[in-house]
Amino acid sequence: MQKLVTFLAVVCLLNACIPSATYRPAYHYTPEKNWVNDPNGLVYLDGEYHLFYQYNPAGDKWGHMSWGHAVSKNLKTWEELPLAIPETMNADGSTNMVFSGAAVVDSLNTSGFFEKGFTKGMVAIYTSHLNKNGEGMAQSQSLAYSSDKGRTWKFYDKNPVLAIGLKDFRDPNVFMQEGKWKMIVAKPLEFMVQIYESTNLKEWTLLSEFGKMGDVAKIWECPSLFKVPVENSDNSKWVMLVSSAAEATEFTGMQYFVGEFDGKSFVSDKQEGVLRLDRGKDFYAAIPFQNLPSKDKNPIIMGWGSNWSYAGDIPSEGRRGMFSMPRKLSLVKENGQFRLVQKPIYSNRIHSKELKLKASELTKPKTWEMKNNSYKLGLVIDLGNSNGFAMELLKNEEEKCVLTYNAMTQKLFFDRTKSGKIDFNKNFTSIETMQAVPQNGVLKLDIFVDNSIVEVFANEGEAVLTDLVFPQKNGGKIILSLLKD
Ligand code: FRU
Repeated sequence: MQKLVTFLAVVCLLNACIPSATYRPAYHYTPEKNWVNDPNGLVYLDGEYHLFYQYNPAGDKWGHMSWGHAVSKNLKTWEELPLAIPETMNADGSTNMVFSGAAVVDSLNTSGFFEKGFTKGMVAIYTSHLNKNGEGMAQSQSLAYSSDKGRTWKFYDKNPVLAIGLKDFRDPNVFMQEGKWKMIVAKPLEFMVQIYESTNLKEWTLLSEFGKMGDVAKIWECPSLFKVPVENSDNSKWVMLVSSAAEATEFTGMQYFVGEFDGKSFVSDKQEGVLRLDRGKDFYAAIPFQNLPSKDKNPIIMGWGSNWSYAGDIPSEGRRGMFSMPRKLSLVKENGQFRLVQKPIYSNRIHSKELKLKASELTKPKTWEMKNNSYKLGLVIDLGNSNGFAMELLKNEEEKCVLTYNAMTQKLFFDRTKSGKIDFNKNFTSIETMQAVPQNGVLKLDIFVDNSIVEVFANEGEAVLTDLVFPQKNGGKIILSLLKD
């Protein structure tokens, strides 16, 4: 009996020593508690980057949509601030939810919301979503303004400023061009965006429409339009981001168009197929920061790390959802077509492992023991005449994520079918694929593993893949081996 008790005590102690995983990311932003989706009102002002976002102050499920708020001085670490713009209740019990939108700095006080000469007024342009008994009744564009750098907000007393009688009409993104405000906003069910102009943010004139191109499988949401520099040249082109369907159309994903914008209409270059921003399942609703310091010519975007196909079911720790790392954008021309390149912005304080090797050195699999599930892994691999490689990540007795590179097809696969908790939604298990062409036989991967999110950047951001994963133990291994014939 005594022996049995001792044995059981030892087993319990050992079990307690195996740390279970936390899903809260260490260097991706997520608020302390509750539900988040889209980033909203990304804007820079006076040394602070503002991240507003779709937030439910009342729980870890979608609802009561309001704007949450965080700020950062460096785009690497974030501080959560109190709720910025709340859902409001109408006399009849219906509510106005505060859906996605943009924030701008109205330095010339074009709106008249601020005191004379005040240059630091912030205006939020968002979608009012009228919600009656849990049902969406109408969507229109509204304003709120802040004189204290986004800490407190007032609603414009003549909201809404733009309504066209459509029930689905949302997600305005606003920027200044040659002294005039431009708004791009989605008609989601028609796969269209509209572009408007205004001198005061209050009265808007329709300039043009664009759409029914590229991916039209599901819906169009959260559009944005901005200039992106072409690498190694003085040129830039206009890029339109649209949140729509993924290649597997039961999932949401992002596409983009490259073209020209003459101040009135956007015209897309001819493109072959759909240009996709991210080849994983968990990058959506990304928009650019407004009002970046003029030395920063390259736009910076952030996205929501989840997918509407299962977002409501992912494991909750009293909070659900997170944001991608910020990504700096540029364009390159490849086979006559422009493509976006995305470079992650991250802190060099993240624990990082840099591996530089030749495939021929991998006669036996190599293993690395990791202390926890949050790190950056840099891999520069000379493929030689190998068939490619397989890298197991977050590997423990029962679980692993597998990144496989096939040198023949030049395709990278990310397999999360055994990645940990997967049974919360039947759509979650998946294998992603992305093309990654080695340069002079060398493939470069920057892999960001952060407890429940993995972002893979190939060849300095030429191809990107973002996926959520839910390993149930901390400190998984990395095992790298050659692909057999
Ligand atoms: C996109 C979206 C937006 C909408 C918001 C509501 O993820 O559906 O179109 O404004 O989420 O939370």
